[in-house]
Amino acid sequence: MDRPVRVLFVCLGNICRSPTAHGVFLKRVVDAGLADQIEVDSCGTGGWHVGEKPDRRATAAAARRGYQLDSLRARQLTLEDFGFYDYILPMDRSNMADIHGLSSGLSESDIKQDQVVRLFLSFAADEFDEVEVPDPYYGGDQGFEHVLDLIESAATGLLADIQARM
Ligand code: 4NP
Repeated sequence: MDRPVRVLFVCLGNICRSPTAHGVFLKRVVDAGLADQIEVDSCGTGGWHVGEKPDRRATAAAARRGYQLDSLRARQLTLEDFGFYDYILPMDRSNMADIHGLSSGLSESDIKQDQVVRLFLSFAADEFDEVEVPDPYYGGDQGFEHVLDLIESAATGLLADIQARM
């Protein structure tokens, strides 16, 4: 492909789940030698945490597995994102509904051709029954470990999907 494939992970606050997906998937991309061919970003549907670093529990859990989240800063999903990204990947159905709500007023020319909008976990291996990455914000540390387990599985499937199209 003559231009990078662009991937956007979306959750509610952009401080727990989507920055974790961002950091995990970016490492997969770099390790595969594809950093100049796949661009990765993340955002939240809500704006409460714009400009903040990821939640320290997410950063610590990711660091224990070798992923760097510290340089990330939260931003909110924009209408322009629909014209830019090839993959828009929400963490749960509520994020998906918010994404569709935002894009529903756009005309076809404002949306990137062949854009994939899919629950991120639809790329995960069958070892997990879940189709949504649960929000760990109000829970304990174990929730962040489970989020990482789910995200690592889906990251593997997503990279394979993109490579198959390259
Ligand atoms: P995230 O988690 O969507 O995975 O970043 C949340 C972070 C903050 C809030 C909700 C979810 N909040 O309500 O502030």
